[in-house]
Amino acid sequence: MKEIKIESTLYVFENLEELPKEAFSLMQKAIEAREKAYAPYSNFNVGAAILLDNDEIITGSNQENASYPSGLCAERTAIYYAGSQYPNAKIVRMAIIAGSKLKKTEQPIPPCGACRQAIAEYEIKQETPIEIYFMGETGKVAKSNSLSNLLPLGFDKSVL
Ligand code: THU
Repeated sequence: MKEIKIESTLYVFENLEELPKEAFSLMQKAIEAREKAYAPYSNFNVGAAILLDNDEIITGSNQENASYPSGLCAERTAIYYAGSQYPNAKIVRMAIIAGSKLKKTEQPIPPCGACRQAIAEYEIKQETPIEIYFMGETGKVAKSNSLSNLLPLGFDKSVL
């Protein structure tokens, strides 16, 4: 038996203003997108913005449904739109902002497991890393240099 350790690296910025300019402006798009969230059941609003290598910016917000599992997260709303509209473009960077209307969260809120799996698919497809910035409603912003950092031991096409 041997032990295997898996490491991930995250970078944490104290606030939005500390972000590099391009990441700041992408997060602003995510903040705007979050205004369009439809989340009457969870009261948890999420916005996502994606920068493509053709300079297009795609945004998305979570869209809920009375039949709960029929709803979709902001990240997947955005990334599936990007994939369907621009199948040949690469995703450079993604910015995500999330927070509940019912409580204040100042810690960065990472994307859920299903969204990580969806983002991983595109990172593997394009063979270049996707930078991910994520935050709560205010406060610190976390950055991962690639999705693979956020999803160690991911399931992918190599086993199919
Ligand atoms: N949600 C997202 O949009 N992204 C995530 O990564 C986590 C969760 C949404 C789904 C649902 O509308 C609400 O947040 C509460 O789970």
